[in-house]
Amino acid sequence: MRTRTAVLVESGRETPYADSRPLEIQELDLEPPGPGELLVRIKAAGLCHSDLSVINGSRVRPLPMALGHEAAGEVVETGEGTEFEVGDHVVLAFVPACGHCDRCVGGRPALCGPGAAANGAGTLLSGAKRFVAPDGTRPNHHLGVSAFSEYTVISSRSAVKVDRDLPSDIAALFGCAVLTGAGAALYSAAITPGDTVAVFGLGGVGLAALLAAKAAGASTLIAVDVVDHKRALAESLGATHTVPGGPDAVDQIKDITNGGPEKVIDTTGVVPVLEQAYAATRAGGTTVTVGLPAPGTPLSIPALSLVAEEKTLRGSYLGSCVPRRDVPRFIDMYRAGTLPVDALLSDHLKLDDINGAFDRLHTGEAIRQIITF
Ligand SMILES: NC(=O)c1ccc[n+]([C@@H]2O[C@H](COP(=O)([O-])OP(=O)(O)OC[C@H]3O[C@@H](n4cnc5c(N)ncnc54)[C@H](O)[C@@H]3O)[C@@H](O)[C@H]2O)c1
Ligand SMILES: [Zn+2]
Ligand SMILES: [Zn+2]
Repeated sequence: MRTRTAVLVESGRETPYADSRPLEIQELDLEPPGPGELLVRIKAAGLCHSDLSVINGSRVRPLPMALGHEAAGEVVETGEGTEFEVGDHVVLAFVPACGHCDRCVGGRPALCGPGAAANGAGTLLSGAKRFVAPDGTRPNHHLGVSAFSEYTVISSRSAVKVDRDLPSDIAALFGCAVLTGAGAALYSAAITPGDTVAVFGLGGVGLAALLAAKAAGASTLIAVDVVDHKRALAESLGATHTVPGGPDAVDQIKDITNGGPEKVIDTTGVVPVLEQAYAATRAGGTTVTVGLPAPGTPLSIPALSLVAEEKTLRGSYLGSCVPRRDVPRFIDMYRAGTLPVDALLSDHLKLDDINGAFDRLHTGEAIRQIITF
C-alpha cells in the first residue's frame, strides 16, 4: 500500500526548520505486516524532544528515517500470530519488548536487549524494514514506531490495546510523554505522600511528571523552567512554587524546602541542569534523570556527596514502565481526573506543517503538539 510519511533526510540542518525542511513528506510503499507485526493507521502523533534531538543531530540515528515515536492508531491488518484484531485501538510504545530476554523476563521491558538493538539499527524487532522509497531504498524506522505517517507497520510488541472511546489525540500522549514523565515520578522516583519534589523542565515529559507527583501526594512541588508561560501552566496544574531556571535555581529550591527536596526529576536533557538537580537534592534524597543529552557528554558531580549525603542518582528510560500494565493504569488515572494530561496538549496540526512545528519545540514555545491524520 501507499502512505504519506515524514522522512528525516538529513540531521543538523540550520533553524528555522520551516525553511531548511529536514523532514520531507514522501509517498512511500509500505509492505504488509510480517509475522508478529501489525499494519496501523495512525490517527494522532505527538512531537517529542527526542525527535528533535535526531533532527538537530545530538542523537545520531541511521538516515533517512521515518521519524516519530509517540502515537495512537487503529489496527487495519494483522500479521500471523498476534493477539490483536483488525479495529483494535492501540497506543504505540517506543521500545518493542521481545518478552524473552533477561530484562523482559525480569519485568523491565523498557530495557529489552533485542528491542534496543532493533531501535539502534532503525529496524523493526524482526530486523525488517517495511517502508520502500520510489528508488527502492528502505528508510529506517524510528524506535519501531515511525509515527509521522498515515500508515505504519510495527511489531505487535510495540502496541498496547486501549479503549476505543479515548480520543486519539489524548491517547497518543500516553505513548511517550505520559509513560516517561508519570513513570519517572511514580516508579523511578517512587514519590510517596508528603514528599517534597522539584521538576526541572516543563515540556510534555516534565509536566506529566509534575501531574503524577501531585497525584502521588507530593507536599511541596517546585516547577523549574526558563520559559515563563510553562511555569504559569505548572502553577495552574498544582505546582506549589515555581523557579526560573538558571544559576540561582539551586539556592532558591533549597530555601523553599529548607535544604532541598527529597525527590528531584530532571527532564531538560541539559547536563549542567542535571548537575543543578543533583545539587538541589536533599541529603538522603533521589535525583532522577529522564533527559537524553548527546551521547558522550560527561556529567560532573562531587563524588563524596553520593556517600556522605547518601544521595541516589538514577536514570529513567520509558519511566521504568511496563507499557502493557502502565498505559491502561495511567489512562484510568486520566479518566478519574487525577492525571489531567490533556493540559500537555498545546496545539493540533497537520503532517505538512511538521517542520515549523519542530521550530516551536526548539524555541520552547510549544509543549505537546499533536499531528492528526
Ligand atoms: N528517558 C526517556 O525515556 C525519554 C523519553 C522521552 C523524552 N526523553 C527526553 O526527555 C527530555 C524532555 O523531553 P520533552 O519532549 O518534554 O522536551 P521539551 O523540549 O518539551 O522540554 C524540555 C524543557 O526543558 C526546559 N529547559 C531547558 N533548559 C532549561 C534550564 N536551564 N532550566 C530549566 N529548564 C530548562 C525547556 O524550556 C523545556 O520546557 C528530552 O531530553 C527528551 O529527549 C526521554
Ligand atoms: Zn519521546
Ligand atoms: Zn526483551
